[in-house]
Amino acid sequence: MLVAPSVLSADFGNLDRDVKAICEAGCDLVHVDVMDGHFVPNLTIGPVVVSAIAKAATKPLDVHLMVENNTFFVNLFAPLKPKYISFHIEQEKHPHRLIQHIRSLGIKPAIALNPHTPSDTLEYLIEDLDMVLVMSVNPGFGGQSFIPNVVDKIKHLNELRKRKNPNCLIEIDGGVSDKNITILNDVGVDICVAGSYVFKHKSLKQAIQALHI
Ligand code: DX5
Ligand code: ZN
Repeated sequence: MLVAPSVLSADFGNLDRDVKAICEAGCDLVHVDVMDGHFVPNLTIGPVVVSAIAKAATKPLDVHLMVENNTFFVNLFAPLKPKYISFHIEQEKHPHRLIQHIRSLGIKPAIALNPHTPSDTLEYLIEDLDMVLVMSVNPGFGGQSFIPNVVDKIKHLNELRKRKNPNCLIEIDGGVSDKNITILNDVGVDICVAGSYVFKHKSLKQAIQALHI
């Protein structure tokens, strides 16, 4: 299991310190939540702040777009060379085109699924993806409770990727902690995003270790 702490739960007054700290504590990716106040009822950070995160990080960035205009934001963040960019399928008329566009920029494309969106929607897309991000809370805020029926969806998604693209990774995002990491690992999750669990823990290192199963 790879661990991608969500910077959304960091102390934004000490972002440089916190990003360096999670990298030193052994995380695998730095998860960056970009919200535009339209697709979700919250507004986070743009390229100026993300470029400061990129400078502080010694691990690759995993950018999660929660926005209405995906192409605009992909082009805005591409110069920062994140490893992954995820966009929400619920907000994209031409996902196949956008996947190719992200790949042409040298970035690994990923699709994010809201809790209500079935995994079947990826039947004809998964072959072109490097990762699927499964939301296990409603996007917009850190610190929410894990939605349990997402586990069943991951089982279906795992079958789909085995059949069509075994190289495609499954990432879970929302309400992840030491309490649910084992079941998530058992159903096929490869990367976990964790915000409040990691940043509220007394030791970043211990928190990341607990998720590294
Ligand atoms: C929610 C974000 C998540 C969130 C995770 O919209 O996509 O990355 O910050 O935070 P926790 O782990 O606190 O649920
Ligand atoms: Zn996220």
